[in-house]
Amino acid sequence: MNGNFVYNNPTKLYFGEESLRYLADELKNFGPTVMLSYGGGSIKRNGIYDAVVEILKDSGKIIVEDAGVMPNPTYEKVEEGCRLVRDNNVDLILAVGGGSTIDYAKGVSASAYCEEDAWTKYWVNQGNPTCKTVPVGAVLTMVGTGSEMNGGSVITNRKAGFKLGKVFGPGLYPRFAVLNPRYTMTVPQYQMVAGFFDIMSHLMEQYFAGNADCTTDYINEGLMRSLIHSSRIAAKNPKDYEARSNIMWTATWALNTLLKCGKGGDWEVHQIGHAIGLVTDATHGMTLASVSLPYYRHVMHDGLHQFVRFAKNVWGVSGEGKSDEQVAEDGLRCLEQWMKEIGVVMHSGELGVNEANLQAVADAVLILPVGYRTLTRDEVVAILRESM
Ligand code: NZQ
Ligand code: ZN
Repeated sequence: MNGNFVYNNPTKLYFGEESLRYLADELKNFGPTVMLSYGGGSIKRNGIYDAVVEILKDSGKIIVEDAGVMPNPTYEKVEEGCRLVRDNNVDLILAVGGGSTIDYAKGVSASAYCEEDAWTKYWVNQGNPTCKTVPVGAVLTMVGTGSEMNGGSVITNRKAGFKLGKVFGPGLYPRFAVLNPRYTMTVPQYQMVAGFFDIMSHLMEQYFAGNADCTTDYINEGLMRSLIHSSRIAAKNPKDYEARSNIMWTATWALNTLLKCGKGGDWEVHQIGHAIGLVTDATHGMTLASVSLPYYRHVMHDGLHQFVRFAKNVWGVSGEGKSDEQVAEDGLRCLEQWMKEIGVVMHSGELGVNEANLQAVADAVLILPVGYRTLTRDEVVAILRESM
């Protein structure tokens, strides 16, 4: 294992069907005013809103309603939330929803009292808060991003022309997160499988980097195998609690900073995915699914040993009588087969990428100098074209 690292994850998790009952205990740790942030209304239809509001009221909290956080949350919406926080002197932002709502809550937390332009300070310059921040708590309703136990806040700024991620430090991680797998049962199949691929992508982004033998990779392989197993069950029977709860747990560990310990990371698939999301507003996990195979086939030769390991340890590919290239290609073929099986979008064309907007997408891709190969802009265009 190489490198020096600090592992510090302060988020307290409550997991399982009974988990919401701990919310009342958590609320005692914060002041009287709670901003209840949520999305477009799914929590009103499935009863989660009523359950949360009842606990807030029983705990004597003043509720500040903050509805309408959209998938791929915008910076404009963050500014709106900041005004609500300041006007009401909010003590806790309770995000009830998926990654979009939780990412948004962290963005508001860091920006509400920021005296500089928050977009530039955090998302462009990747600075850290120097002002007062507001504690965030989460009730997770959609599985995939890992936002419930990390500092990630991915925000879209259409005026600036970028969808950018900021990873805040542990001070901005949710103080607590309630993970009830039952709450995810009403997620539509399309969103559900997009979340499954998002998890796989987080695992692969961290796996395909580095050359050292590293314990972290063995943990990662275990999570990938569990995800592949459970997602096959859940794609056929979304009501399978065992599979859905395993996937919820896997998603959290896939991106709560454990898997980067002693490793770098790649994250170029996410940069391309964010650019597609910016231009088309497509679902995050599907943007990743649509470009992953062309991307990995493109960089496979630069990190061949790890693609061979992926094929053998994750997919059980036999190496007998094959060259390393053949084994690595077989691994990617298994990945492709699994993607088709669970039903993710295989082509970015289906998400709205076409010859007319291809250059705009490419312009919005951040090229990171990490992973096994640093792409050129021409390579980005070639991968996008192949993904269509
Ligand atoms: O808005 P509502 O009505 O709640 O509907 C949502 C939304 O339309 C719906 N949904 C959520 N829970 C539901 C439900 N529908 C029925 N029943 C439920 N229980 O699902 C739709 C998608 O929700 P969203 O929160 O957008 O999904 P996701 O969790 O995939 O979040 C995506 C966002 O997270 C960012 C992505 O870029 C994207 O903006 N990411 C955040 C990361 C992080 N914080 O570390 C890392 C990821 O790589 C990712 O970039
Ligand atoms: Zn992701």
